[in-house]
Amino acid sequence: MLVGGFGTRLRPLTTHLPKQMLPVVDRPMIEHVVSHLAERGVDDAVLSLGYRPDAFLEAYPDGHCAGVALHYAVEPEPLDTAGAIRFAALDAGIDDTFVVVNGDVLTDFDLGKLLSRHAEAGAEGTLHLTPVDDPSRYGVVPTDGEGRVEAFIEKPPRESAPSHWINAGTYVLEPSVLARIPDGRKVSIERETFPAMVADGTLYAVESDDYWIDAGTPAAYLRAQLDLVDGHRAAGPRDAISPEASVSPAATVRHSVVMAGAVIDDGAVVVDSVLLPGAQVAAGGEVTGSILGPRSVVEEGAVVTELSVLGEGVIVEEGEVLVGEARPEEGSGA
Ligand code: GDD
Ligand code: MG
Repeated sequence: MLVGGFGTRLRPLTTHLPKQMLPVVDRPMIEHVVSHLAERGVDDAVLSLGYRPDAFLEAYPDGHCAGVALHYAVEPEPLDTAGAIRFAALDAGIDDTFVVVNGDVLTDFDLGKLLSRHAEAGAEGTLHLTPVDDPSRYGVVPTDGEGRVEAFIEKPPRESAPSHWINAGTYVLEPSVLARIPDGRKVSIERETFPAMVADGTLYAVESDDYWIDAGTPAAYLRAQLDLVDGHRAAGPRDAISPEASVSPAATVRHSVVMAGAVIDDGAVVVDSVLLPGAQVAAGGEVTGSILGPRSVVEEGAVVTELSVLGEGVIVEEGEVLVGEARPEEGSGA
């Protein structure tokens, strides 16, 4: 599991926590990913760690997550996706067919389909593909009629993307892939290794339109949670309001996730939003389509709207209005 990135697009939420340790409704993101794999028969996972490895070690001190035994592989420096896979696989002694997942992907895709297609095709690598409207943020993967990959183009300009099927971030790989990855420098599996495998004709793919989201941006992190409480996932709807939150009966809370210890006072309005643990909205405060970080505070009558993101402990003062703003701002040193 690749969980070592900096989570830059989710700052300031990732200033203190790695992306995959951010809560998604009732559990850290990584637990959703691991328990989905566990349901498909996975019982051992290697976490490829880089940024803030301590957060994972502290959360799972006995080395188990959702019933899956964890092996921790901590990179000495960021090695990028292929470098990270190589490092983690060698660290854990992997010498047989293995699965790689991007740790920020939440999906209902059945891993079994990828494994059987991989074996059937005698592939060196097999990718899960999902359809999206705008492929420019992803790895674009055109295939022939047989499921053989014809090209792998990471984040092309929107107009030039040859397909709307993109790399969904789950791979089955043979150990021979590891020998393709040079040691001692950053290597991107998307920009170097997969294109080389395409050239050799050894890369295959399986298309599916099962539920899929990469929760690595504020909009997607918000969406992933509302999808869960709306029951858009195979597992059925989750409770949106934690029993350990305190919501005034005189507040209006609609279509929002309110986590443990969050407080919403009289007359406050919270719509299409996520409140992380301990976030507070004071009387008459208004929060729409936004994410309030842990223990952040929206004071009386303040307005936070249009995908604003508050970092841990940020205070929006009485009467202030935030429209599509992140606080603290990047580089403010706060
Ligand atoms: N250990 C380690 N070291 N992990 C890393 C590193 C690294 O240097 N860099 C990134 N990661 C982890 C991230 O934490 C994340 O879980 C995963 O690798 C993918 O990185 P992202 O930064 O989320 O990549 P992306 O979303 O822009 O693009 C990737 O995912 C898309 C699908 O969601 C690519 O694989 C695209 O091709 C793909 O379409
Ligand atoms: Mg991502």
